[in-house]
Amino acid sequence: MIVGTTREDPSAEPRVAITPETAKKLAGLGATVRIETGAGSASGFLDKDYEAAGATIARSASEALSDADAVLKVRRPSGEELAQMKKGALVIAIMDPYGQEEAVRQMAQAGVDAFAMELMPRITRAQVMDVLSSQANLAGYRAVVDAAAEYGRAFPMMMTAAGTVPAARIFIMGAGVAGLQAVATARRLGAVVTATDVRPAAKEQVESLGAKFIAVEDEEFKHAETAGGYAKEMSDAYKAKQAELVASHIAKQDIVVTTALIPGRPAPRLVSSAMVASMRPGSVIIDLAVERGGNVEGAKFDETVVTENGVKIVGHANMPGRLAASSSALYARNLFAFVETLVDKAAKSLAVKWDDELVKATLLTRDGAIVHPHFKPKAAATTGEA
Ligand code: NAI
Repeated sequence: MIVGTTREDPSAEPRVAITPETAKKLAGLGATVRIETGAGSASGFLDKDYEAAGATIARSASEALSDADAVLKVRRPSGEELAQMKKGALVIAIMDPYGQEEAVRQMAQAGVDAFAMELMPRITRAQVMDVLSSQANLAGYRAVVDAAAEYGRAFPMMMTAAGTVPAARIFIMGAGVAGLQAVATARRLGAVVTATDVRPAAKEQVESLGAKFIAVEDEEFKHAETAGGYAKEMSDAYKAKQAELVASHIAKQDIVVTTALIPGRPAPRLVSSAMVASMRPGSVIIDLAVERGGNVEGAKFDETVVTENGVKIVGHANMPGRLAASSSALYARNLFAFVETLVDKAAKSLAVKWDDELVKATLLTRDGAIVHPHFKPKAAATTGEA
């Protein structure tokens, strides 16, 4: 059983899918581990660390991939990488499949069995494999650290001989995994923290972290959480009420961190240009949803925009990549936990249980076809034709 990984695209992704720690664990399962030279360097892991963990360093991507039975990646592999893989190889990554029909089709055509880690069901058994949580948690932390760095004032209230500095007021929009970590981090830094969400369960979680919960708590709010624990898209009427409440609150905030997402849909627009204009100069907005269209009007992907009234809107791409060592460490453990379920430990070989619910939920392509019900081409889904 050969398990390999390659360097991610250096312009977009500093994380790595196998760390020396998980290379050692994979070797413990009986795998031969191949790492493309330099794959871990942007996360602080050197070739020699992998070698010390029992992995082999491949001089090129093709050397790492050509006879790999399983390929672990952070992002979906490129067409070039797919062409170097053998048919039937398992490819496990954050596949970002929504709206990417062509890319999913390419993986099917390449004959690989592609698994999308972000589709892992949120059940107890799979918590250890939950890449959305592990990465969002770090992103939420980093968003507040970035906000503190961009903000020209202090976060905590300071009483000094020269007078008092007031505490920063920070508003976290979307109190899921990233948002709750942002609340906790901002509290630790001494800010006055408020947070909002459309899911009622978020209220208690926000309050238990010592922050104030602010939301339109009407009938629709009571039913806004899906069985999977995610938010629904809200009605236009709800959005209007929410915007009114948010508008008056934001005008009094120094920092806003937005984290609101709806699975498989564009991010909801929560902060309008008028709201941004109501904030005082020097205020900072961090939009963690910028890769999915943004929660904030005027946020630009991977740019910091300074508005006419002096508000900074920060739209960093790939927030987890801004702490690549930590996020790679957790991501690689998530992957290892999943791979462990795909291996026959006695035979020391891959033995995928195709009817396991974790496999069924994450498997996008198999034997040359798109097999996931959400991504099957419409015609094929209804007529059985490819
Ligand atoms: P997410 O990343 O999909 O969305 C982030 C947050 O944005 C969510 O809390 C969502 O409710 C909120 N949101 C969406 N639309 C909004 C709007 N219009 N206005 C304000 N907020 C909006 O969600 P995430 O962080 O993945 O977590 C969702 C839930 O799943 C949380 O309750 C979390 O605790 C739970 N969860 C459960 C796990 C498990 O049982 N294994 C593991 C991880 C999370």
